[in-house]
Amino acid sequence: MSNYSRRKFLKTGGALLAASSLPISMVEMAFGKDSEQNFTFAYISDSHITQIKGNKFVRNWDRGLIRAVAEANLLDPRPDFVFYGGDIAQLGKPEEIDHGLEILGALRGDIHYVMGEHDYYVDLGDYWRKQLGPDHYSFDHKGVHFVVLNSILTHEEWMHRKWDTGMDRMKQMARLDNPNGQPFMVGDKQRSWLKADLGTVSKDTPVVVFSHSPLQKIYKGWNFWTDDAEQVQALLKPFDKVTVLYGHVHQIQTNQIGNISFHAAMATAWPWPYPSTYTQQESYLPKLTVDMNRADPFFERDATGWQFINLHSGNVDVHYTLPDNEARVVAFDEKLGHPVDTKYQAVADRTSPQKHY
Ligand SMILES: [Fe+2]
Ligand SMILES: [Fe+2]
Repeated sequence: MSNYSRRKFLKTGGALLAASSLPISMVEMAFGKDSEQNFTFAYISDSHITQIKGNKFVRNWDRGLIRAVAEANLLDPRPDFVFYGGDIAQLGKPEEIDHGLEILGALRGDIHYVMGEHDYYVDLGDYWRKQLGPDHYSFDHKGVHFVVLNSILTHEEWMHRKWDTGMDRMKQMARLDNPNGQPFMVGDKQRSWLKADLGTVSKDTPVVVFSHSPLQKIYKGWNFWTDDAEQVQALLKPFDKVTVLYGHVHQIQTNQIGNISFHAAMATAWPWPYPSTYTQQESYLPKLTVDMNRADPFFERDATGWQFINLHSGNVDVHYTLPDNEARVVAFDEKLGHPVDTKYQAVADRTSPQKHY
């Protein structure tokens, strides 16, 4: 962390000034210049608090979360609430969840949570729900309808198979490239709930959905994937403006599918390299409209940093401030109808994907 300088983030033309160098996201819901309805919320994700033994925890992951909480507390103007994007814990142990919640307890203001697979698969979410309540819910805030989904479920028969221990099940899901893992899904029950929930919302209300896994299909081997993504997207299709914010991928991702903008939040724990499907078109669904360039996946803080998300009437501009990387902006292009990486679109300007998978 020593090579971090504190960076000031200034939203041009706006009143928002925040200083930060760690991966939290600040989201502004903008309804018009100086509208009283405008508000911001912060987004922190993927802390992966890891117990070593007893009260010893992996220090790096603790520090990432502690610092994100401290910086969220410094935001000015105050965010209306903070959203936590899942994977508080590494192996879902009560000790890890408790330790993470203790750190998050220092946050000022309300905090909403979504379930991550690392919180879930040891006890199918029992401890998380006991501490935090339901794993899917919705709420309205200043004219915006927010929906929280548990997108990391999988087939009932797999979840309830006879496992020697819950930890065996967790370890199947906590690994990348594991042929014994299973694809994530929202599932029939929650999709019925979502349909009923959205049935009460007018089509011109901005809708923001929080999930842990992307509600789109990016890379199955790493579960950067939700198996019933298309069915969830279909339920969101009738709305004018929909934004899906997710964690899980520990990297920058931006996409637009029809009326839905997708943005990933960076992790406080570590960055994942970009998966190989970014260069393997055959399993690359959907084609990303914004082909983000990458830097060095083996730089421990690459793809962590500060991102500012500005939602104007549902279209999102994202400003990234990354260590050892130029700041850049992904902005919604009215003419093209999707976000454009404004600075890095020229292929010659991009850092090539590294092929070492
Ligand atoms: Fe994660
Ligand atoms: Fe995850």
